Amino acid sequence: MSSFPELTFFDYPLVYFNEIDSTSDYLKVNKINHPLMVVADYQTKGRGQYGRVWDSESGKNLTFSFQFFPEKLEIDHGFKISQMIALVLVEVLNEIIFPNRAYIKWPNDIIINDKKVAGILIETTIEKDKIEKVIVGIGININQKKKSKVLPYANSLANLFPEINWDRIDLLNMLIKRLELNIRKNFQGDFQSSYNQQLYKIYEVISILYKNQEIQVVNLGADQHGFWLLDNQSEKQKIQIKSSQEIIYLYK
Ligand code: BTN
Repeated sequence: MSSFPELTFFDYPLVYFNEIDSTSDYLKVNKINHPLMVVADYQTKGRGQYGRVWDSESGKNLTFSFQFFPEKLEIDHGFKISQMIALVLVEVLNEIIFPNRAYIKWPNDIIINDKKVAGILIETTIEKDKIEKVIVGIGININQKKKSKVLPYANSLANLFPEINWDRIDLLNMLIKRLELNIRKNFQGDFQSSYNQQLYKIYEVISILYKNQEIQVVNLGADQHGFWLLDNQSEKQKIQIKSSQEIIYLYK
C-alpha cells in the first residue's frame, strides 16, 4: 500500500503492509502500549471468527486492525464494543449507499442486500475484571469482483453498488474519524436501541437450525449482554443464543 496517505489513529501514524500474516496478529504479537491501527493490502493468514479463514483479494479491499485501551470498562459491558463498532460501520455505509440499507446480522456481520460485506473480529485482554485492551480486526469487501471460494455468502460493495466510486482511503478515513469519536466517549452511553434498530430482520420470522432442528422464530434482538433473543412461537418459549456457533442461519 505504497500510495497510502498520512492517516493517523489517535495521533499515531497508521502502519501499512503490502503483505502480512494478519493485522490482528501483528498487534497481538507486538504488544504495543498505545492506540494503533495497522492496514494491509493482503493477509496470508487472515482470521475470521471462530478460527475461520478471512479471504480477501490483494489490494482490492480493506483489511485492518486497531487497538485501544478503554478506561474502566467492566467485562459485563464487553458487548458494547461489538455494538459500537458494528454501528459505526453501518452508519458510515448507510451514508454512502443511501437510500439502500446496511444491517447488522447478529452479532456483528454487516449485511447489505442479504450479502455479507464486512466482518468484525474483536479480541480483548482482561485485567482485574476490566477490559484492559481491545484489538478489533475489520475486513470490508470493497472492490473485489471475484467471488470468494471460502466465503460464498459474501459480496463486495462495488458488486452491489457499481455506480459508486469506492475509494478505500476515503472510507477508511471516514471510519477512523467515527471510531475515534466513539472510543473517546469510553462506552458511557447505551447502544442497545440503536443496535437493535439496525439489526437484520428484527421482529421478522426467520428459519434457523437449532439443536439439529429447523425452527421458525421471531428475531427479538440482542439483550445488553449481547445474547440473541428469539421467540419460538410454536413452543411458546424464548430462546437465548450466546454464540453464533449454536445455530445455523437458514435464511440468506
Ligand atoms: C468475521 O466475520 O469472521 C470476522 C472477519 C475479520 C477479518 C479481519 S481482516 C483484518 C483483521 N485481521 C485478521 O486476521 N482478521 C481481521
